[in-house]
Amino acid sequence: MAKKTVIISGAGIGIGHATALAFAGDGYRVYVTDILEEEGNRVAEEIRAGGGEAVFRRLDVTRSEQADAIVAEIDKNHGGVDVVVANAGIAHRVPLAEMTDAKWDLTHEIDLKGVLRLARAAAPRMRERRSGAIVAVSSISGIAYGWAEHVHYSAAKAGILGLVRGLAAELGPDGIRVNGVAPGFIRTAQSLSEEHSMGEAKLAAQVPAVPLRRIGQPDDVADVILFLASNGARYITGQTILVDGGLTIQQG
Ligand SMILES: NC(=O)c1ccc[n+]([C@@H]2O[C@H](COP(=O)([O-])OP(=O)(O)OC[C@H]3O[C@@H](n4cnc5c(N)ncnc54)[C@H](O)[C@@H]3O)[C@@H](O)[C@H]2O)c1
Repeated sequence: MAKKTVIISGAGIGIGHATALAFAGDGYRVYVTDILEEEGNRVAEEIRAGGGEAVFRRLDVTRSEQADAIVAEIDKNHGGVDVVVANAGIAHRVPLAEMTDAKWDLTHEIDLKGVLRLARAAAPRMRERRSGAIVAVSSISGIAYGWAEHVHYSAAKAGILGLVRGLAAELGPDGIRVNGVAPGFIRTAQSLSEEHSMGEAKLAAQVPAVPLRRIGQPDDVADVILFLASNGARYITGQTILVDGGLTIQQG
């Protein structure tokens, strides 16, 4: 069978890195993309060293022309994108009093519109081939969790749920599935940031609130993304799946 191609945004570190390794392990050709060139190149090298196929391309998801160009390269050289993983995201701490239009817009440009840009670029060829899967990374903050001083992030991540449902309805008749994952507390640079997120101590303090009694690892999320892209999820579309160790079920 021909090798499938996945393009992953924000794949230099964290959940995106783990996702790149998961798809490589499943035999995919991986387009590792990020604004972090050193880290992204290292991930592609890591995959190649393990016998997989991967290249790094710089992709700032705020730039439509960059997304279009990389997808055009894949369409030309590999027949089209099989899977899009729209993972890139930022979660800056901004109290309401400091929430400028520019700060709001930047988070939406990356966290929400960045998803649209990759999906929009990949969809035409997916439609022609009548197959494809798109997985976007939302957050518990987009579904069930209020996060003070992160309203722009919460709004953008909630927006992903609507985007996923709308795209699933529009692209489903052409054989394309669109889903999301909503991670809980996952140990990455984002959650470990003292400035913008919880930091090590606060993250550790959340463990008792998690029924599975641990902070998630990036591969806990990557494996669900891989599943949603797989044939095993062939009748699932328009869903955003929580991957939070049970955090949001309100244990009694
Ligand atoms: N870590 C968590 O607890 C958690 C929880 C819920 C949701 N998420 C989401 O998971 C996704 C991955 O986050 P992570 O935790 O691995 O964080 P991370 O900070 O480790 O990774 C984020 C990635 O996005 C990239 N990125 C940022 N701006 C970009 C841009 N303009 N263009 C392209 N790439 C850009 C970064 O370079 C980095 O590679 C994000 O969408 C994040 O919001 C994370």
